Amino acid sequence: NGFAKLIDSGKVSDASRRPVRCRVHPIRTHQNKGFRIMTNRSLPAWPYPRTFAHRGAGKLAPENTLVAFRHGASFGYGAFEFDVKLSADGKSFLLHDATLERTTGGSGRADALTLGELAQLDAGSWHGPAFAGETLPTLASIFRYLRANGFAANVEIKPTPGREWQTGAAVALDVKALAQGMAVTPLLSSFSETALEAARLVAPELPRALLLDALPADWLERLQRLDCLALDANHRELSAEIVAKAHAAGYRVLCYTPNEPERARQLLDWGVDSVITDAVDRIPPQ
Ligand code: G3P
Ligand code: MG
Repeated sequence: NGFAKLIDSGKVSDASRRPVRCRVHPIRTHQNKGFRIMTNRSLPAWPYPRTFAHRGAGKLAPENTLVAFRHGASFGYGAFEFDVKLSADGKSFLLHDATLERTTGGSGRADALTLGELAQLDAGSWHGPAFAGETLPTLASIFRYLRANGFAANVEIKPTPGREWQTGAAVALDVKALAQGMAVTPLLSSFSETALEAARLVAPELPRALLLDALPADWLERLQRLDCLALDANHRELSAEIVAKAHAAGYRVLCYTPNEPERARQLLDWGVDSVITDAVDRIPPQ
């Protein structure tokens, strides 16, 4: 794949896949004697655009449907975040919620229906009559669109409760197969560390980002444990210091979902590597 090719060509460090070796350096401060962890992990390459459209580009069009992607592309966006889970028969498809009510004409758990049953649902009318008849895309159909247009993907693994491991493994295997020959290897992300662990097991070469809504004290250790390429944080949790700390430790940073141009500019100025936004009409793609 593209990421592996870049690494094989020697143009990019393979730091995201190397185990991190740590040295403990004693440091002295005015207040006390302490220790800090120094790592020799260099900052890995970041082949992604600096702006991703969120849920396809799912504010002005129904989220996680093909028409939302087309909408984002019409504003010049070339990178897309979207949510993926499994049907009852284990097929990867796009949907944010664990249940069907909010964004389709169906009801109940999304993983209670087979892909054939899900395909019958209207995933557009909830947004407005102009989108009536829009369907829930399969992961394969979205990749057909991304590949044909040379677009980049951030695949958020969004398991229904209880199916974290299975979803992480299945989606990673699907992405691995679908991403063959793509210029930019898709980035996997998840709030579920179990799903990321499973993805790492079956497709270690696919880069991973850990989604964190609130930053726990051990966020850096979590990134290390899952051998992630990036921290993917709620933008409200970030500061210039946290971005610098992540970079110094060898991790890229992306964040969701700044929707004000000023705020997006500030985050990018701090060195955030990519922002994921709904406001494709107001935040220019970069
Ligand atoms: O992947 C970033 C963002 O999409 C995470 O939150 O709830 O919109 O999937 P959510
Ligand atoms: Mg998402």
